[in-house]
Amino acid sequence: TKKADLGPLVGAVDQGTSSTRFLVFNSKTAELLSHHQVEIKQEFPREGWVEQDPKEILQSVYECIEKTCEKLGQLNIDISNIKAIGVSNQRETTVVWDKLTGEPLYNAVVWLDLRTQSTVENLSKRIPGNNNFVKSKTGLPLSTYFSAVKLRWLLDNVRKVQKAVEENRALFGTIDSWLIWSLTGGVNGGVHCTDVTNASRTMLFNIHSLEWDKELCEFFGIPMEILPNVRSSSEIYGLMKISHSLKAGALEGVPISGCLGDQSAALVGQMCFQDGQAKNTYGTGCFLLCNTGHKCVFSEHGLLTTVAYKLGRDKPVYYALEGSVAIAGAVIRWLRDNLGIIKTSEEIEKLAKEVGTSYGCYFVPAFSGLYAPYWEPSARGIICGLTQFTNKCHIAFAALEAVCFQTREILDAMNRDCGIPLSHLQVDGGMTSNKILMQLQADILYIPVVKPSMPETTALGAAMAAGAAEGVGVWSLEPEDLSAVTMERFEPQINAEESEIRYSTWKKAVMKSMGWVT
Ligand code: G3P
Repeated sequence: TKKADLGPLVGAVDQGTSSTRFLVFNSKTAELLSHHQVEIKQEFPREGWVEQDPKEILQSVYECIEKTCEKLGQLNIDISNIKAIGVSNQRETTVVWDKLTGEPLYNAVVWLDLRTQSTVENLSKRIPGNNNFVKSKTGLPLSTYFSAVKLRWLLDNVRKVQKAVEENRALFGTIDSWLIWSLTGGVNGGVHCTDVTNASRTMLFNIHSLEWDKELCEFFGIPMEILPNVRSSSEIYGLMKISHSLKAGALEGVPISGCLGDQSAALVGQMCFQDGQAKNTYGTGCFLLCNTGHKCVFSEHGLLTTVAYKLGRDKPVYYALEGSVAIAGAVIRWLRDNLGIIKTSEEIEKLAKEVGTSYGCYFVPAFSGLYAPYWEPSARGIICGLTQFTNKCHIAFAALEAVCFQTREILDAMNRDCGIPLSHLQVDGGMTSNKILMQLQADILYIPVVKPSMPETTALGAAMAAGAAEGVGVWSLEPEDLSAVTMERFEPQINAEESEIRYSTWKKAVMKSMGWVT
């Protein structure tokens, strides 16, 4: 039978902390045609350590590409119409590999990992000049969260990494770099690059000059020759070259032309192109980004300043204020994998619905310390307010509430920094299919929560960047493109007073979570 001709299609790799996906969109209508998802293992070799296997991550990308192509075939859609591929990824997670063998020299050190706590303490004692040295250049506080300290740890502790650096064989990258290098040929001419959004999460990148910063590299002791080239978020980096005997070889020669850290990609996918537009993505963590246009706005309330996107070599850079919450979806995974009170993540909704309240139980999932707005590495998770009446349903409910309270904290900080409170919250990400969570979020924020009917906005953003790149030109970034997107709206249903009482009790619980590690 003749294959359907839908015009140019664009693929997107969405490599998150919990899973990898490959999705294919119609570039004219932004319709999602097919996708495949694979869960990624996380290893916890010691308390506070979080690692992933870079090869498993790469393999999961191949698997997702292959399965999605198969599904497109079943739909009678011609994969030769895929004209570009975008990459979006979990940010900060750090990989060092050998450019001659293509082998990672250690596991990926995941953004959530806390092993660098003492490195951070030592570094903070010798910050040159004023305390603002790192923040004024990078927009970031000195924290275990960002790549520079993870890379420092690898250089200090892994002999293979040290040796490869001495022998000029080491390459460093965040997950985008590792994937693009591998997908464009790896040892056979792979392109070693990253984009401005990912670079801005390393703590080595000057967000004003948009270059690696020599002084920062000296401060962290990072050899600059192992860093990737920094490119815009939308340009042709290289062509797909798959050496495997993989059906995904069908995408051989397709340009990889979009690259954004996942939170930036979601901002683009939600079409937040105007100053003051914001989105909140519920993934492993939870990240609220507000576009601040061409200005770098520095927060007075614990938010980060980060590069939002730069959609083309000659296009201007946009910045964002970001509220980062380390643990959102991860708390559900913990209830599933560590406590076993649910078998699948979806079951959480059923449990929470059974009781419809936490019955005074509060759960602060500070597994990796607390990020915004506290930046408190000494915090650890607590469940409090328990009575003999409390059961697993209340704990499930409290876990969902925790995600909403954490969002409230970063939204409050954002409103204070921006001066103009958000009138509604645009949301996306895996957890937004949970209706109880969405309703709770509207109740706790006391503003409407608005969610696009197509929740894969991260991948959409990466696809848009790839399709719009110079030399590809199959996607126009005009706002009317997505005017057809339908939205689901959740209005607050409890009164503001009730909402405030719950929120202030949450804050009490947060205070109790601090100071566990000294
Ligand atoms: O900064 C970490 C972030 O990029 C991870 O995103 O979706 O895996 O929670 P996600």
